[in-house]
Amino acid sequence: MSNNLLKGKKGIVFGALNDQSIAWFVAEQAYAQGAEIVLTNAPVAMRMGAINELAAKCGNAPVIPADATSLEDLEKLFTGAMEHFGGKIDFVLHSIGMSPNVRKGKHYTDVNYQWYQQTMDVSAISLHKTLATAMKLNALNEWSSVVALTYIAAQRIFPDYGDMADAKSLLESITRGFGFHYGTANKVRVNTVSQSPTVTTAGSGVKGFDEFISYAEEMSPLGNAGAIDCANYCIALFSDLCKYVTMQNLFHDGGFSNTGVSHSVMSRFSPDQE
Ligand SMILES: NC(=O)c1ccc[n+]([C@@H]2O[C@H](COP(=O)([O-])OP(=O)(O)OC[C@H]3O[C@@H](n4cnc5c(N)ncnc54)[C@H](O)[C@@H]3O)[C@@H](O)[C@H]2O)c1
Repeated sequence: MSNNLLKGKKGIVFGALNDQSIAWFVAEQAYAQGAEIVLTNAPVAMRMGAINELAAKCGNAPVIPADATSLEDLEKLFTGAMEHFGGKIDFVLHSIGMSPNVRKGKHYTDVNYQWYQQTMDVSAISLHKTLATAMKLNALNEWSSVVALTYIAAQRIFPDYGDMADAKSLLESITRGFGFHYGTANKVRVNTVSQSPTVTTAGSGVKGFDEFISYAEEMSPLGNAGAIDCANYCIALFSDLCKYVTMQNLFHDGGFSNTGVSHSVMSRFSPDQE
């Protein structure tokens, strides 16, 4: 259902790899809510070609490749997007995450430090670079909204999430840092959405993901939040209905983050189960 919540707004959506990606749903919902968008992803991700299918569904949105760790690529992205829109940008979705250590099964206590730096650069510092580039080019309108996706492993230990947990902590810190500085300078708001485990390429790369997603489902009073609902939440944050929300980490997780234990999980330890 469209309420035209983003009518007249222009945004950049990072990270739609395939039709499971959270960013894919955000792009579709943003378009459905009246926004014009530019899509971007790492040049290597373009080879899969799915992004062109999404672009066609979103009013033939331009696709501008950018490695989010490259300042040069980011500058070209923002310049290209502003040229296309004929003006500045109102919202940005940062939906980027990758850890070579997690991918290659390296234990947290035995990481490859070069890969560790890559994890930080791709999954967290890329947000700093995105916002620094936008600021330098004065690319964002007043009251524009930037949302990055994160996970509760930033606050609590989830053993198999590895060095991505450190990256998410840094991502959330950068959100507060830029939320303050860009908010003061130009009323730009910056938030993270902390999403339930979701079946996607990045999510499924975490060891034990299938068991974990079932555990989270049983630990969440509302159940795990799906990708489409995550997209809807992002749309609300991009809209003018959330104008004074900034520098926050917002849990979108069906209540998981505030649940100590649930009856369904406890029942597994009852003597009847033995
Ligand atoms: N899936 C989950 O369970 C879950 C839960 C909470 C948060 N998140 C976060 O949501 C975001 C999106 O992930 P997803 O689950 O949709 O998976 P996904 O694999 O579909 O998306 C990750 C994206 O990051 C992009 N990317 C990787 N390196 C890049 C680079 N150098 N430059 C630009 N883009 C690059 C990939 O191409 C891909 O499109 C990530 O930040 C992830 O950590 C996911």
